[in-house]
Formats: sequence, C-alpha cells, structure tokens
Amino acid sequence: MATLQTEDGQEKEFQDGGSTQPAAEELGTPFGCKHGMCGTCRVEVLEGMEKLGERNDQEKAMGLEDSNFRLMCQCSIKEGTVKIRI
Ligand code: FES
Repeated sequence: MATLQTEDGQEKEFQDGGSTQPAAEELGTPFGCKHGMCGTCRVEVLEGMEKLGERNDQEKAMGLEDSNFRLMCQCSIKEGTVKIRI
C-alpha cells in the first residue's frame, strides 16, 4: 500500500505504483495544468523521496532534478509512505 502524508499528519492510501495526483488533491495540493507544465502542484518531499518513481522529463525541465521538490501530477509512489509539505 502506498501512502501520501502531509506534515500535519493527514494521509491518503492508494495502490502501490499509483499516481500521487488524486491523493495529493484530496490532501489540499493545488493543481493547474496537471501535465507537468505550470508547477502549481510542486511540493517539498520531507520523507520517503526514494519511494517515489524516477523524475520524468517535465520535472527535469522544471529544474527539480537535484532538489527535494516534486510535481504531484507527475509522480507515483512505488510503495510505502511519502511525507510532503504542500
Ligand atoms: S498541475 Fe501543472 S505541473 Fe502539476
């Protein structure tokens, strides 16, 4: 089971390998384009970066390659818990 958790302890569970987008949206992350173009859904990953799938081209184009930030419309959680700051 994959779990997306906010720093204040709210969390949503979903299937391993699933996109973070629906859970992040339910937890209050704002979204714009949902295609990795606008950066509105950028969050800071506080714990569990290694549990997220590889950064894709949209995230790299936004300069997030060597940072603690990810786009919630472009990520998936392989398994386990990932904690974010919205
Ligand atoms: S909503 Fe635009 S980059 Fe994710």
